[in-house]
Amino acid sequence: MKKIVYKRSDKWRQYYHLMPETGWMSDPNGLCQLKGTYHIFFQYIPDNPISGKVCWGHYSTKNFINYIQEDIAIFPDSDIDRDGAYSGGAFVKNDKAYFFYTGNIRFKGNYDYIYSGRGHFVNMFTSDDGIQFSQKVNLLKNVDYPSDMSCHVRDPKIYEEKGNYYMVLGARTKEDQSCVLIYKSSDLENWNYLKRISYDKYFGYMWECPNLFEIDGQKILIICPQGVKKDGFNYENVYLNGYCLLDGAIEDELVLKSFHELDKGFDFYAPQVFKDDKKRQILIGWLGLPDIPYANPTVQFGWQHCLTLPRELRFKDNKLYSYPIKEIELLFNDKQIIFMKKDREYKYQSQSGKICFKNTFKEFDLHIRKDVCLTYKDHIFTLSLGESGFGRDDRHVVIDTIRTIDIFSDISSLEIFINDGEYSMSTRVYDDLNDTYISCSHNIQVEYYQIRKINLSKRK
Ligand code: FRU
Repeated sequence: MKKIVYKRSDKWRQYYHLMPETGWMSDPNGLCQLKGTYHIFFQYIPDNPISGKVCWGHYSTKNFINYIQEDIAIFPDSDIDRDGAYSGGAFVKNDKAYFFYTGNIRFKGNYDYIYSGRGHFVNMFTSDDGIQFSQKVNLLKNVDYPSDMSCHVRDPKIYEEKGNYYMVLGARTKEDQSCVLIYKSSDLENWNYLKRISYDKYFGYMWECPNLFEIDGQKILIICPQGVKKDGFNYENVYLNGYCLLDGAIEDELVLKSFHELDKGFDFYAPQVFKDDKKRQILIGWLGLPDIPYANPTVQFGWQHCLTLPRELRFKDNKLYSYPIKEIELLFNDKQIIFMKKDREYKYQSQSGKICFKNTFKEFDLHIRKDVCLTYKDHIFTLSLGESGFGRDDRHVVIDTIRTIDIFSDISSLEIFINDGEYSMSTRVYDDLNDTYISCSHNIQVEYYQIRKINLSKRK
């Protein structure tokens, strides 16, 4: 194994978040645990931080502390995926992993590539060890989708119920209505269309990256709607991420309940959920978003984006909570307590750390890093970034009472969890490593842990 060493000038490289060595990283793909090892694939353009044909990059880990950067798992190099090996999920059965993904094909000609000109296929490959992969095979082509679909049907993810397999696909109709298509199979290879799920009223023209899973007996559908307008403090990002409870059995009448945003920060999209052998539903998201009106200055260093921390999901009081998995604590240094006097600035040692507050103040202002401000007033929690946001300004969440705030700060990101994960806000932030101060509008005691780097090696 070879240790990876980066240029010193690359000042925004993360300590404990997965990011690409070079190039572009986006959606987590094929998340699974196979024979004890976790596999994290992702949308990857190795040689360009902005655009190109996507492959599936690959990290593996047994403990979320030591990671191996594996070879690229799939290249867009065949008739069934030549313009991009787009997103998809994994399904593990009898110690074998089945990977499903979207093969993107752009036909030559004068097309809009939305309603015509695009092949959007479901393909599959398998693996017994997570390292060697079988040939790719095609399972579904355009003709296999309902006739009112546009050329945007993608991101297969598998769900098992009562011995049957169900594949969810995000879709856009020719009439620009969003929905999730469900296919059914008894062998993971032959799939038949079963039904679609959607709202009666317009809720975006496209839903990307659906995940269907069960937690504590409740079916949940995660979707990433595009084309939904901002509504007060809701839906502030260009594309959304969120979940809906689904009631009923999959083959009977399924009732899609209301949509709740999962993460209310600037940079969170395309999350994927998988179950591990500890029966945890673990979510990893892209700590980024496509088509953003703000910038990521890491492009000058030849890379862009990273993934969120792995988060364990819990279902409590009819809500989905998410909080970084326990393993991350193994990267913590000793706890420090900072006794902060109202409005005084305290210098703390690193941008890579966890800051925890416990309080029930009805109002507060909290300043961290160079120019990040967290305020709470009239039940509105606001995250505001100054210059270090590179165009990111404010995001909001309406919260009845705040009891705890835990902030996972890495070199160029913040993941904020309120009330043990009842709310989360994730964002990239680009400030100077030396400017790390904290202050609050109240006398308050803060717990702080520095967080060490994850270990990353290359298989070859
Ligand atoms: C979401 C997404 C997916 C697609 C992939 C392509 O970010 O648009 O729908 O499969 O990215 O990279």
